[in-house]
Amino acid sequence: MFNQKFSNGIISAKQFSREDIDYILKKGKEMINIKNSNLLQGKILATLFFEPSTRTRLSFESAMYRLGGNVIGFHSSDVSSIKKGETIADTIRTVENYSDCIVMRHSLEGAATLAAKFAKIPIINAGSGSGEHPTQALLDLLTISEEIGPLDGLNIGLMGDLKYGRTVHSLSILLSNYNVNVYFISPVQLRMRNRDKDFLQQRQINYKEIINYRKILSILDVLYMTRIQKERFVDSEEYEKIKNYYHFMKEDLKETKDNFRLLHPLPRITEISPDVDNSEKAIYFKQTSYGIPMRKALLAELMID
Ligand code: CP
Repeated sequence: MFNQKFSNGIISAKQFSREDIDYILKKGKEMINIKNSNLLQGKILATLFFEPSTRTRLSFESAMYRLGGNVIGFHSSDVSSIKKGETIADTIRTVENYSDCIVMRHSLEGAATLAAKFAKIPIINAGSGSGEHPTQALLDLLTISEEIGPLDGLNIGLMGDLKYGRTVHSLSILLSNYNVNVYFISPVQLRMRNRDKDFLQQRQINYKEIINYRKILSILDVLYMTRIQKERFVDSEEYEKIKNYYHFMKEDLKETKDNFRLLHPLPRITEISPDVDNSEKAIYFKQTSYGIPMRKALLAELMID
């Protein structure tokens, strides 16, 4: 069972020790073989999405239904009383009376932390601005572990918008629990934030910053691509200049090892050519399927006493 440090829910990847990650990966693997059950019968999950989502919201909701539970919620701030000026704190203090766990996505980086401060039930951070997206990172590790093998010893590239991309922030934090070589691949303007690099340095994790991914493609076991986060740019002209910076093509796969795998949290815009999709090395759609067992495992841990 998850220990006391998860009593407020899952807000940051920093909450997880290696032991915690290994435990939840084991639980996630078990859930792959359990399609439907009554484990969460009588429980209610609230999904509060103030920002758009396809995979995160629907996989949490599907996971909850497949465990016999029910779901309430909204998927736009336009249809909640936030629109009338209600605060996040008051929203949480209300919704906790209607549910057993709250999954929340918000554009503010501190939103999940704030919600957890006021909630008496667990909060799951489903994406907080440019900050973190810890459950995505957990499903990413489940994908790597199932599709490639043990994490220790792997060469892993995180590529794209490392400044604003919340999935790569959480993923690099989780990876810092393993003996991996990390390559941060991005344009100079979108480099990984100092606070995330400092975190890796403190944990003595080897990382390198690179602009041209082709220079290291042949040594990578995993390349985790991300889109340029249009919605985070203050200046739309800056986004227009950089939006097509990377374009991974089918020819690039020829340079990769046999066991190389290409991941992406999705949505993908133009950074991966569609003709890459049919390669067995491109596993980003399979990756989406691991959202269900991982989120089933997390919901079960947080809602069963
Ligand atoms: N990976 C991810 O967070 O996707 P959505 O934005 O569709 O939820």
